[in-house]
Parts: sequence; structure tokens; C-alpha cells
Amino acid sequence: MRILVVGSGGREHALVWAIGASTLCDALYCAPGNAGIAREATCVPIKADDIDGLIRFARDEKIDFVVVGPEAPLVAGLVDRLEAAGIKAFGPSAGAAELEGSKGFMKDICRKYGVPTAEYRRFTDAAAAKAYIQERGAPIVVKADGLAAGKGVVVAQSVAEALEAVDDMMVARRFGGAGAELVVEDCLIGEEASFLALVDGETALPLASAQDHKAVGEGDTGPNTGGMGAYSPAPVVTQALIDEVMERVVRPTVRGMAAEGRPFKGILYAGLMVTKKGPLVLEFNVRFGDPECQALLMRLKSDLLPALIASRDGVLKTFDLRWHDENSVCVVMAAKGYPGDYKTGTEIKGLEKADAVTGVKVFHAGTVEKDGKILAQGGRVLGVTARGATVAEAQKRAYTAVDAIDWPEGFCRRDIAWRALARRN
Ligand code: AMP
Ligand code: GLY
Repeated sequence: MRILVVGSGGREHALVWAIGASTLCDALYCAPGNAGIAREATCVPIKADDIDGLIRFARDEKIDFVVVGPEAPLVAGLVDRLEAAGIKAFGPSAGAAELEGSKGFMKDICRKYGVPTAEYRRFTDAAAAKAYIQERGAPIVVKADGLAAGKGVVVAQSVAEALEAVDDMMVARRFGGAGAELVVEDCLIGEEASFLALVDGETALPLASAQDHKAVGEGDTGPNTGGMGAYSPAPVVTQALIDEVMERVVRPTVRGMAAEGRPFKGILYAGLMVTKKGPLVLEFNVRFGDPECQALLMRLKSDLLPALIASRDGVLKTFDLRWHDENSVCVVMAAKGYPGDYKTGTEIKGLEKADAVTGVKVFHAGTVEKDGKILAQGGRVLGVTARGATVAEAQKRAYTAVDAIDWPEGFCRRDIAWRALARRN
């Protein structure tokens, strides 16, 4: 089969790496890809949001199956357009992707189908949102309705902070149109966990557990980022929790979306808060997490490609995914300054040495190759991922590889997987 992966991050490098190993894959393309992906697939300079360009390419190159990595093209309807053009694709339709594309839509689905989530209200008017915040008190959470690259959420510790967030999102339009509508919801307390399932419209197959570290600083402090690292399995996700989340969150959501005439296919990623009263949904994503994907695929024993095709074809019922018992840890290396301003074009050396460490694979995110040199070109630049018999061994291997990388303008957290280690010891 001829496969096209859409996207350019660490997640897409991991997808390319796994799909490239499939017995079904004869030719592999990535649009637009990055310097690491270019060594494993043919990169084509078409952006992930250039729907017309992607369709033209898929037609011209007789692509059999397209795997879409990021949320924005899914929400924009890339899968619908590909399918309408007769090209099979992995991921949700635009109607189903609204679970991530509109936080208000997602909350309404939860309410309608009894999926546990924080109490909330939707607002299109700043004054009404502010009045509700005054009445409800702090802490309280203000969310821009639309896509805001993971930055449209303010967990306000005071009423003043929440009111400022309303002005910022709705009046100053810090996230553009994404802030035309807001969700204001109660603040939940507990430990966060990510839960990913592969869904075919009807059947949901849970993936292995994984957890990311969103905050930029060690000990999970400082501003949120796209994710500074991840590990799998996540000990917070016990078998009892898996059963509960499948029963109370995943299955009712999948049934509900089908009942709404928006059957969900692809990866359903539930961001959960595990509270004393059980798990509540913070958000749904409609694609693999980045960097959770890197940590997960490092542990996947089964061939990924047939599973993605089975999701698209609606035949997951007969499927089963196998995982390595080993642990994995992915450490993200980012450009100094991230998630604020950072420099691009700095040279990264030592990647071969890092890749040669036992059990390690270095996934690229924001990299380009120029005159034989690998240059950093984004905020999150590398995902140094390792497998090991224990979480401690995987972590040690990942940091051994990190230390082999010579990139003075980069940084990483030194404590990825600390929660897993704290629970085990
Ligand atoms: P979201 O994009 O909705 O997952 O929000 C990003 C982050 O904000 C989450 O990972 C949580 O750390 C935090 N968050 C979101 N909603 C809540 C909530 N209701 N209570 C507490 N923290 C929240
Ligand atoms: N790592 C969080 C996300 O991909 O949304």
C-alpha cells in the first residue's frame, strides 16, 4: 500500500516509524514532515492545512491510505474531503472532530450522554460570563471554545484572574475566533491522566496507558506547553480505572456520537482528572497526543497500520493490540525560551550517538536539514524516547541519549516520569 502521513511533529515521526515497519506498507510519504522523518519517508512540501494540495497529491500519487496526525486539519474536514475524493483516511470527520474543535460542544455531549465532567456553562457574552464567575467564585476555569494550541485554558485561582481571562479571550481575542465563545467550568482537584482509545464508529479498543508532562518546569511547575515528555505505562491508570473509563466515558461518548449522526472514528483521547469521586473528563482530543504517541508506539508490538485501517473500515471488533511489557519514556528537547520566544536555526549535533544508545529512538519534531546539518526550527524540537525493563531503566537510557546530544541552545526537563517512579518506589 501507498501511505501518506500528514503532519510534521514528533507524533508524526513516530507514526512514520511505526507505519514504515508495517508489512502492508510499500511506499511512505509525509507532508510536510521534518529532517528526521525525511530519513524514513519521502517528504513533500505540502502543509498540513493545505487540504486542496493534499488531495491533489494523494490523487496524483495514487495514495491508498492517509493518516492524519494533528487536530487542525481534522477539524477543518480533511478526512471528509479525502473520503469524498475516494481516498481512504484515518481520523474523525469534521463533525466528529468537533469533540476537540469546540469545548462547548464536547461539554454538551458529556451532559447529554451522562459522561462525568465538571459543572459548566457556555457563554457568547462577556458580561454574562463575568456575572457567572462572580456568582460561582474561585478557583474556576475559563476556556476558549475553539482550538488554541493547548493554550486557551486558564485555571484561575481568584475571581480577578478569571475576569481578566474573559477579557483576554473574548474581548481582546487573544486566540482569535476561538474565543468568540467561552466555557466556564468548576475547578477539579486530583491527578491528571490521559486515556486513549482506537475507535471505529462503534467499537473502542483502549490503548496502553500513557501520561504526559504539560508544564515546562521540573516538578510540573511553570507555564503549560504542548508537552515536555511522556511515559508509558502510567501507574495512575490501573485496570480498575481502565474499566471505569471505558464504561462511563469512552463507550457512552462513542454511542452518543453515533446517535448524533457523527460516528467517531480514529483516536479518542480523554484528558481526565482522577478525583476522589472517580474520573472526570477535562477535555477530548481527536488524535494521538504528542508526546504520548512517541511513548506509546515505542511499546506497540502489533503492526500499527492494519489497526488504523480497521478503525477506518469499522472492523475493530475482531482486533487486538499487543504491547511490550517494557516501560517507555520520551524526553522532549525544546529550544531555550519555549513556550515563550526562542531562537531558530541553531545546529544540533550528536544525534547519531544518541540514537545508538540501547533501546533509544530519537524522534524529530521541529528540525530541518540544511547543507548536511540538522537545525532546530521550532519550540519542541526532539523527542528522545527509550524503552527499558523498568521505568528507571527507560528513564536512564533516555537521559543518556539526551546527554549525547550537543545542542547548547536546547533544554529539557530532567524529571520526566517522576510520578511513575514515586509510585513504584
Ligand atoms: P484542557 O486543554 O481542557 O485539557 O486544559 C488544559 C489543562 O488545564 C489540563 O490539562 C488541566 O491541567 C487544566 N484544567 C482544565 N480544566 C480543568 C478543570 N476543570 N479543573 C482543573 N484543571 C483543569
Ligand atoms: N500532549 C498533549 C496533547 O497532545 O494534547
